[in-house]
Amino acid sequence: MTQKATGTAAQTSADHRPVMLEAALRALNVKPAGRYLDATFGRGGHSRALLARLGQEGRLVGFDRDPEAVAAGLELAAADARFSIHRGNFADIDAHLGESSLDGILFDFGVSSPQLDQAERGFSFMRDGPLDMRMDPDSGESAAQWLARVSEAELADVLKTYGEEKHARRLARAIVIRRETEPFTRTVELAEFIASVLPRSHEGIHPATRAFQAIRIAVNSELRAIARGMEAALFLLGAEGRLVAISFHSLEDRLVKQFIAQHSRPQQGSRRLPPTAAAPSTLRDLGKQRADAAELSVNPRARSAVMRVAERLR
Ligand SMILES: C[S@@+](CC[C@H](N)C(=O)[O-])C[C@H]1O[C@@H](n2cnc3c(N)ncnc32)[C@H](O)[C@@H]1O
Repeated sequence: MTQKATGTAAQTSADHRPVMLEAALRALNVKPAGRYLDATFGRGGHSRALLARLGQEGRLVGFDRDPEAVAAGLELAAADARFSIHRGNFADIDAHLGESSLDGILFDFGVSSPQLDQAERGFSFMRDGPLDMRMDPDSGESAAQWLARVSEAELADVLKTYGEEKHARRLARAIVIRRETEPFTRTVELAEFIASVLPRSHEGIHPATRAFQAIRIAVNSELRAIARGMEAALFLLGAEGRLVAISFHSLEDRLVKQFIAQHSRPQQGSRRLPPTAAAPSTLRDLGKQRADAAELSVNPRARSAVMRVAERLR
């Protein structure tokens, strides 16, 4: 489930192999009677493998903002009483789950293969569909609505920051001029327009790759959700509970890295108080890992994945 759509493979993903599956399960330190949360259920690749390691006493809660992912989760819940599924933004998992003392929480960020594969979801520049890109199509603005109202400066900033698009200003200007006469409504229409504005790429990727990624991150407020989701996870984990986060984009990974680093240090109170007043740290950093060569050989989409792990301290 790659998020960084750096090539056609990411846009035409045919299989739905969960990324870093074995490593994630090891990092979660699954106890047969433990209670776990899969905050990004998708199609349940990680969840099913986790359930296979749980005993009858174990419990797993799945979470996703995408109604189709939740429908898949309901089927699993009907077949396995140890599993339940919630629909919502993981930014608010604490509100959904309350005080939980969980043994582990998994985040596998980004979009799922089914989201990319279905033209009508509007994520893919390779498949013609409505310009939507919402993981939750029942809330917020579609990409078409966002593109119709965003300022040129904000658009340039989004393209540059979330897409690392070198020609962000030029592209933002062109989009804003064009939308005055003809709003963008279709994925392929936008992709072709971007290709007509940008110089030919020598990286072997479609010229719209970066812009589509950037617009998707903005439309779904993905980075804000990650920042809030991490805080909520800290609240939900019990002592020695594991936080496992798989990122596909350097901006996601930076947020996770900073969050873990910040909570692995003693928390300073006011600077006016003596250092002894510092609260103890709440996480222990257990490091990061990448997909191994064996996985990369069968799943090239795992190449940008970075998994970070931390343990909740008492
Ligand atoms: C990469 S896929 C997860 C795949 C899953 N691990 C599997 O094995 O099938 C990411 C999933 O997270 C969901 N998601 C992304 N951001 C979310 C958020 N802020 N709140 C809830 N779900 C989110 C997406 O809808 C998508 O289904």
